[in-house]
Amino acid sequence: MTNVVVIGSQWGDEGKGKIVDWLSERADVIVRFQGGHNAGHTLVVDGVSYKLALLPSGLVRGKLSVIGNGVVVDPHHFVAEVEKLRAQGVAVTPDVLRIAENAPLILSLHRDLDAMREDAASNSGTKIGTTRRGIGPAYEDKVGRRAIRVGDLAEPETLPAKIDRLLTHHNALRRGMGVDEISFDALHDELSSVAEHVLPYIDQVWRLLDEQRKAGARILFEGAQGALLDNDHGTYPFVTSSNTVAGQAAAGSGLGPTALGYVLGITKAYTTRVGEGPFPCELHDEIGQHLSTVGREVGVNTGRPRRCGWFDAVLVRQTVKTSGITGIALTKLDVLDGLDELKICVGYTLDGKEIDYLPASQAAQARVEPIYITLEGWKESTVGARKWADLPAQAIKYVRQVEELIGAPVALLSTSPEREDTILVTDPFEG
Ligand code: IMP
Repeated sequence: MTNVVVIGSQWGDEGKGKIVDWLSERADVIVRFQGGHNAGHTLVVDGVSYKLALLPSGLVRGKLSVIGNGVVVDPHHFVAEVEKLRAQGVAVTPDVLRIAENAPLILSLHRDLDAMREDAASNSGTKIGTTRRGIGPAYEDKVGRRAIRVGDLAEPETLPAKIDRLLTHHNALRRGMGVDEISFDALHDELSSVAEHVLPYIDQVWRLLDEQRKAGARILFEGAQGALLDNDHGTYPFVTSSNTVAGQAAAGSGLGPTALGYVLGITKAYTTRVGEGPFPCELHDEIGQHLSTVGREVGVNTGRPRRCGWFDAVLVRQTVKTSGITGIALTKLDVLDGLDELKICVGYTLDGKEIDYLPASQAAQARVEPIYITLEGWKESTVGARKWADLPAQAIKYVRQVEELIGAPVALLSTSPEREDTILVTDPFEG
């Protein structure tokens, strides 16, 4: 028995929600360790659909759910999401939900700054295409050592100095951007108004998780976004502002790396991304449109259409290494049903030379050209397959080719949004 870290192995939106829900039934504790409410996870439990952005998926199943210190917490969004879940009949109490006292807050000024920068960048053609939720600015304040953290709300007497420090920075930026400054009182009122909603949940999460681990609990670390959006290893600067690779599960929860166990990379059978940035296998033709339509590729959170393309084995092979992936959960294979032929990117050409990796340089990432192999498609439907024998031979060939190219085995194969439509090869909790 081991703990499991779930991460997205591409640019996010790989279908983590269903797999995390499937695993959370087998887990005792579910932990978010990075990102914020920029994530969008849809869970369908007993026919009811739950849309989560900040809260760990385990909450829907009544499992102990933890928001780790690596997460940035928007208290306004937190209140709204808790209310929404409660309205759907989910119990949200400190018995089942804890927030790390050392998690930084996302405040209105962060959301403002994110949006102002994106608007300004749209005019100059340099926008990132963020979710405009204030994620980046909140992480900047964290590493800039001026963030106000969740636990600070419990020490109101310390807030004035922290507010001054934060506003010195933000008001300078706002003056530069020609927008009104934020007053001390406005920020103080904002903090006072959210404190009572958040404080009941705060905890020493590192200690709680250590106790749980010692008591033999199965811990599921629920990643958000995907490894190619990692601030170090992704398509920088078109990335999110946290580390999304599996190693962050340790730093972002306070449980050391030896506790992490099995790393499951959620991997879509083709590739999508939202927002700006390089995408070597992007398709601008009718096949791209087909993937978008059949795969219903629209962002859960922002409603933005996702860009679509063939499976890029170069990217996932790199993620297998940067996240130490043990096995993958392959999702949305059925979206490829009915296509005459399928392509997989196995390498790139960069300035006439073949390479087998994604270069770190932004300019080089924009120049790489995919090298494809072509496989025969299949006509039969794979929707709802629950064993290998239900799959057409060409679909099995496709899966085997993916495994070989990325250097990791398929542990789970998901064949529809329904939780039971899954082919289980290896139970990640059993390693
Ligand atoms: P941010 O995380 O809002 O700062 O956005 C930075 C980049 O990450 C943008 O390209 C977003 O579209 C992308 N992003 C953030 N969260 C998600 C997600 O949950 N799925 C897919 N892309 C995401």
